[in-house]
Amino acid sequence: MRFLVTLSLLFSLSVIAQTAIAAIIEIPIETARTALVLRVNNEGHLVIVHHGKRLQRASEYSRLPGITYLSEGYSDFYNAAYTPAGSRSLLEPAIQATHADGNSSLDLVYVRHETKPAGQGQTLTTVLLKDPQYPFEVTLNFRAYQNEDVLESWSTIRHTEKKAVRLQKYASANLYLSAGTYFLTHYHGNWASEVRPEETQLTAGMKVLDSKLGTRAQMLQSPMFMLSLNQPAQEEQGEVLAGTLAWSGNFQFAFELDPYHNVRVLAGINPYASEYTLEPGRDFTTPALIYTFSTQGTGGASRSLHRWARNHRIPQGNGDRLTLLNNWEATQFDFDEPKLVDLFKDGKKLGVDLFLLDDGWFGNTFPRNNDRAGLGDWQENKAKLPHGLGYLVKEAEAAGVKFGIWIEPEMVNPKSDLYTKHPDWVIKLPNRENAVFRNQQVLDLSNPAVQEFVYGVVDGLFTKNPSLGYIKWDCNAVIYNAYSSVNPTSHLYVDYVRGLYKVLDRLRAKYPTVPMMLCSGGGARVDYGALKYFTEFWPSDNTSPSERIFIQYNYSMFFPAIATCNHVTNWSNVPIKFRTDVAMMGKLGYDLVVSHMKPDELTFSQQALKNYERLKPAIYHGDLYRLQSPYTHDVASMFYVSEKQDKAVLFSYLVNSRFKAGSDLPPIRLRGLQPEKRYTVQEINLMPGAKSPIDSTISYSGDFLMTVGLNPAVNDRRTSVVLEVTETGR
Ligand code: DGJ
Repeated sequence: MRFLVTLSLLFSLSVIAQTAIAAIIEIPIETARTALVLRVNNEGHLVIVHHGKRLQRASEYSRLPGITYLSEGYSDFYNAAYTPAGSRSLLEPAIQATHADGNSSLDLVYVRHETKPAGQGQTLTTVLLKDPQYPFEVTLNFRAYQNEDVLESWSTIRHTEKKAVRLQKYASANLYLSAGTYFLTHYHGNWASEVRPEETQLTAGMKVLDSKLGTRAQMLQSPMFMLSLNQPAQEEQGEVLAGTLAWSGNFQFAFELDPYHNVRVLAGINPYASEYTLEPGRDFTTPALIYTFSTQGTGGASRSLHRWARNHRIPQGNGDRLTLLNNWEATQFDFDEPKLVDLFKDGKKLGVDLFLLDDGWFGNTFPRNNDRAGLGDWQENKAKLPHGLGYLVKEAEAAGVKFGIWIEPEMVNPKSDLYTKHPDWVIKLPNRENAVFRNQQVLDLSNPAVQEFVYGVVDGLFTKNPSLGYIKWDCNAVIYNAYSSVNPTSHLYVDYVRGLYKVLDRLRAKYPTVPMMLCSGGGARVDYGALKYFTEFWPSDNTSPSERIFIQYNYSMFFPAIATCNHVTNWSNVPIKFRTDVAMMGKLGYDLVVSHMKPDELTFSQQALKNYERLKPAIYHGDLYRLQSPYTHDVASMFYVSEKQDKAVLFSYLVNSRFKAGSDLPPIRLRGLQPEKRYTVQEINLMPGAKSPIDSTISYSGDFLMTVGLNPAVNDRRTSVVLEVTETGR
């Protein structure tokens, strides 16, 4: 049974002013199943006394053990809720600052707190902390999503000192967990090999994960982690904290074990080269750490995050998506109008909703015929597209599909009119040789003129082509030689991301419903900061299904299927069925020349798209159960169950080619169905003429399917199997 908190949820409203801090003050931040409990100790410091399962009796929070002191007889403690630097704390700080008078010590003492309703099923708890010696304060913010068991934590820093204060570190969250042992799963990667997980047991000392790439959080390290308590992470049991930072730039996560075997977690913007100068009377607000505490392993954590993302973060998270045909893999930069018009018609024949024109459509002085020129000059290339984009939009619509377009508006090739005209708009050092990444450089989004330009590129496309149906927003370069000649600051990395969000805020205000894909040279920028604006993301340029099974599996830990774009391409030559089945576990699309398909491949694909349409409620809006991991089983199995539990789909793939590898024994136990209901199981996505060994006339109880399971009969002749599970009543 799903747990739903009724709308009549009673929110507690408590405002406690600072009087004498004699009595212990407890601040429970609760969701339906979890609680983070803060306490003010008798010196007025804020500590964390519990983070985990919610207690049934809130009155018992006062019985929680209190402070973990640095050492007996010392006055400092490990479980601070926001560790200040430079005074008594000798631990990795959450915040480090130099006051206007040059003093670099901080102490933060509780002033007051408040918990109030903050939108549907949400509470917002704010705790004000202040330095007793300086007019310097920090508000810790905790937004609790009741039904989804997700917390968002961020801090707001402000002061009224005589001059600016320098902030050297400003974490979003400072957490503290108690268990004997901790197993950290983090994700690293590179182009075409994104989000590879690695699990490691935390040992004494500090483990730091970070990124310094500037424009993209991901590549090398992704801004997300799973921390499993007492055992390596399990899929459906055990306590796990899953966290991810909503920030599209440099991040830092630090995990520090204390001598009592508790772990401190510090998460936020990477302080690397980002000292922030905060003027008096101004606020500095950090991005949010988004996290969930699961008592049902990584599976429970993912389902909570998926629900949260659909309900509260991703635009139209509970809506529909367009299936598309892209031309990147099919044509790269080599196309003209007739070629594109043929592709639209093919798209319609296939049955997709939209055609997406990728890179290569712009630039005249420096035509974009390869990746060495043209970025920045967003005018149609006259040789390739003599009639302009408007003509293509109309032709696509005439063919019966919508038209979408690729842009990379944050970037510039040195070979472009834009670079020639505005060399000062580029991030680069005056006294160093120009450094390029994929032959391009990053525009200085800390500069309002550049923000205006980037906004204008996108706005101009829509103004000229009001029925433009889709944007793919790419970002292929990292920031080298981080320096802005227009805005020389010590925090360009921070201002860059803020500049990007300003542009996206404006665009979303004007175009709230247009679908937009977040892309970054594959999946190098996938985070919930950007996903506030984008309906979906491109996980990787690697579309080989045998790799994709792993890549999608890893993204699914944090991001829902509705936002995960998967395309059927010719990257590998495995059968079209395998490619399609894998791509269906998310937002399905194509990137191939339809006219090159064999007749049975086309027939199969047309039917698969119809099946997909029927299964979207389960895949897009349902719960995901990762039944068998590709890392530990011959057969990887993912099961999507609709919210009403009346439709489900089981995807199973052979991922091991050893002798007799397959799903013969034992059957795969399903999850998430209603035990008392009856279901039929039918194999779909069969190639024309293929027969299925699955008997679709049998009616199973949900209880049987979840207790005994079923065998999808995956083997070396049936390497990929899709089963549609349909409720038929009691
Ligand atoms: C990188 C993206 O990941 C690809 O899908 C494609 O859009 C290229 N850029 C175009 O340059």
